[in-house]
Amino acid sequence: MGNLIAEAISMGWMAMAIVAGMIVYFQVTIGDPVAKKRAVFKTFIGLVSTFLLFIAIANYKQNFYGESRLLPVSLVMITVTTFIMALYYTNLSALLKIGGMMFFIAAFLSGYGNWLPQVEGGFPPVEEEKTWDSMTPEQLADEGEKIIFGGVGKNKEQGAIGKGQCPLCHAFHAGMLGERAPNLLGLVQRGDERIADPKYFKDDPTKRMYSVKEAFPGSGAAQTSQEYIAESHACPSCYVVEGYGVKGTNDKESPMPAIHKPPISLSLPELAAVDTWMYLREGLDAPSFEDLVASYEKFIPEADRPQQAKEGEGGGGTTLMADGSEPVDQILAKAQCVACHTIPGIPGAVGTIGPKLEEGTTAAQRIKAPDYKGTAKSATEYIMESIIDPSAYVVQPFPDNTMPKVFGQKLSAGALKKIVDYLSQVKVGQPPPPIK
Ligand code: HEC
Ligand code: HEC
Repeated sequence: MGNLIAEAISMGWMAMAIVAGMIVYFQVTIGDPVAKKRAVFKTFIGLVSTFLLFIAIANYKQNFYGESRLLPVSLVMITVTTFIMALYYTNLSALLKIGGMMFFIAAFLSGYGNWLPQVEGGFPPVEEEKTWDSMTPEQLADEGEKIIFGGVGKNKEQGAIGKGQCPLCHAFHAGMLGERAPNLLGLVQRGDERIADPKYFKDDPTKRMYSVKEAFPGSGAAQTSQEYIAESHACPSCYVVEGYGVKGTNDKESPMPAIHKPPISLSLPELAAVDTWMYLREGLDAPSFEDLVASYEKFIPEADRPQQAKEGEGGGGTTLMADGSEPVDQILAKAQCVACHTIPGIPGAVGTIGPKLEEGTTAAQRIKAPDYKGTAKSATEYIMESIIDPSAYVVQPFPDNTMPKVFGQKLSAGALKKIVDYLSQVKVGQPPPPIK
């Protein structure tokens, strides 16, 4: 509004109108007192109307090119102005009234047209490519936090998870238990201890006892703490933290997925961002972006390096783990259900952190259990409820809050449906259903 008035005044006409008004005023002040008072009043009305008129014109000018719907306001103001003037300048009255009426009709018509829904034009937003190497360490760390937790500042939020999926298994803060995987607090210092471990065979990794000896033939072992971190991400089974190996493998094999490979598929710059967050959040200086990327190049051969996903395809908190176009075994792998559950018929689904999923038999029993407090009325409803609201009913003897509560947001409706369809057909003592 302020700049509207300024605009009106700046239109030099305003000044001219005031001068004209003053001339009239001085002319009529010579005469009898009643006529004088009347003339002053008329001059006043004249000035107010002129002012309104200019604001109306200024408003019209400002909004003509924008997609504003304020345009008809100008016309309404002009109409009002003409009517006011018509009331006081009786000799001009007829003319002004006709003029006002015309403006009124014009205002009505244009207003009607203007207030109808407008079609938004313009170009689609340009896809922004991330320029990793020009980011400050803080910006990189923010990207890292988004990849791990789904958003900046989310690292302490219960259940927060990003496309890196690390919080499915890892805790990151002091006091949080690392039952499934080591707590990643203090990782940078720990890296040096790990490579000093005789079982690590820093100088000749081919002597290792693990299921995989080297990230790729000739890659060698890590020589620095950062290289240890890079190797842990690229080749989890090259060294398995004691007690955390896949059950029954005597710590020869790690349950952690290689995070540059599908389904997680982080690119080298994304891995560098993840690491930068881990350094900065502990108040440490991170190695440069180039050095971080170089540490991964040591363990990930060129052919295995995922291409950087375009902005919007990943990274953000709302990114889906699976969109439902995949076959069900891939959906279960992408969502890491396989890391916690044994699921008959699904290759690699050998997890033991949660119950074996034979829902074709168990789901119906669960909803009949006396301690069942959920809202499911059928087996399929129970399976869906277990996935999107795992605490609705906690299967004994498993602890509550182990299964992530993110799948309602992280899986498309189609993906959820495929999972429910499959699980509802898995029955105790029967061959597993076919994968569709
Ligand atoms: C499916 C569970 C799982 C997921 C998902 C997972 N990890 Fe792990 N991770 C583990 C387990 C178990 C270990 C310990 C066994 C080993 O040494 O490989 C481990 C080990 C590590 C280590 C070595 C820790 C140490 O103390 O030496 C690092 C570093 C690591 N993970 C980082 C990550 C990051 C970063 C992500 C996400 C991008 C991630 N992990 C995702 C299960 C997982
Ligand atoms: C981090 C480990 C973990 C992951 C990942 C996980 N779950 Fe679970 N799940 C559990 C645990 C523990 C329970 C038992 C406790 C409970 O009911 O909350 C459970 C319970 C269930 C149940 C109820 C089982 C029954 O017999 O009543 C279903 C169904 C289920 N999970 C499906 C899934 C699906 C589908 C996925 C992947 C989209 C998944 N879970 C991912 C740990 C996990």
